[in-house]
Amino acid sequence: MRKRTPAAALALVLIGGCGGADPDATATFIALTADFRAFQSWPRTAVGTVALPEHPAGPRFAYANRPPPAAGMGYPVGTILVHTIETSADPQSWDVFAMAKRGGGYNANGAVGWEFFRLGMSADGVPVILGRGLNPSEGHSYGGGGATTQMAGCNTCHGTAVGDASDHILSPLLRPGASSSP
Ligand code: HEC
Repeated sequence: MRKRTPAAALALVLIGGCGGADPDATATFIALTADFRAFQSWPRTAVGTVALPEHPAGPRFAYANRPPPAAGMGYPVGTILVHTIETSADPQSWDVFAMAKRGGGYNANGAVGWEFFRLGMSADGVPVILGRGLNPSEGHSYGGGGATTQMAGCNTCHGTAVGDASDHILSPLLRPGASSSP
C-alpha cells in the first residue's frame, strides 16, 4: 500500500518544486496577519537614515524571515521583508511596510512575484494589515497618491525592469548575493 504512482510522484515534485529552473514557478503564498506577527524577532538590518523621496523621515530598518539568496537567485515564495521607519521607541509610531513573495505570476509587470503591504501596530504591539496588493498606499502620501496604475505606488521604485536582477530589493544589504549577516 502507500506506493506512489509515477503521476503522484511527479505531482509531488511539482508542488515541492525541486529540480526545476524556477523552483517557485507553481507555488503561491498568501500572507495573513499571523505571518507578520513575529517580524520583530527576525534578523533586523539598518538600511538607511538619509531622507528617501515619498517616505516619512526617520531611521529605516528591514526585517527578513529569510536570508538573502545567492547572487542571481530570487527570494523563495513565502519570504517576507518588513520595512520600518522607526521614529521613536514606540512601535505604534512607526510606519511599517512589507513585501511578501507571493509567486504564482503575481505583479507580473512590476516587482515580479512580490505583493506589497502597509501594516499598522496595535496597542498590544501586534502588526495588522492595513492595505495589500499592488498599491496598498492608495490614498496615502507614501508611494505617491496619484492614479492607481500598475506602475504607480510601490512598483514605481521596486517594480522597474532593471530591478529584476536584484529581485526588486533596494537595500544593498538584502539583495541576492549580499551577506546574510552584515
Ligand atoms: C520612492 C521610492 C520608493 C517607493 C515608492 C517605495 N519604496 Fe520601498 N524602498 C525604497 C528604498 C530606496 C528601499 C531601501 C531601504 C531604505 O533605503 O530604507 C526600500 C525598501 C523597502 C523594503 C525592504 C526590502 C528592500 O527592497 O530593500 C520593503 C519591504 C519596502 N521597501 C516596501 C515598500 C512598499 C510596500 C511600498 C509601497 C507602499 C514601497 N516600498 C514604496 C524605495 C521606495
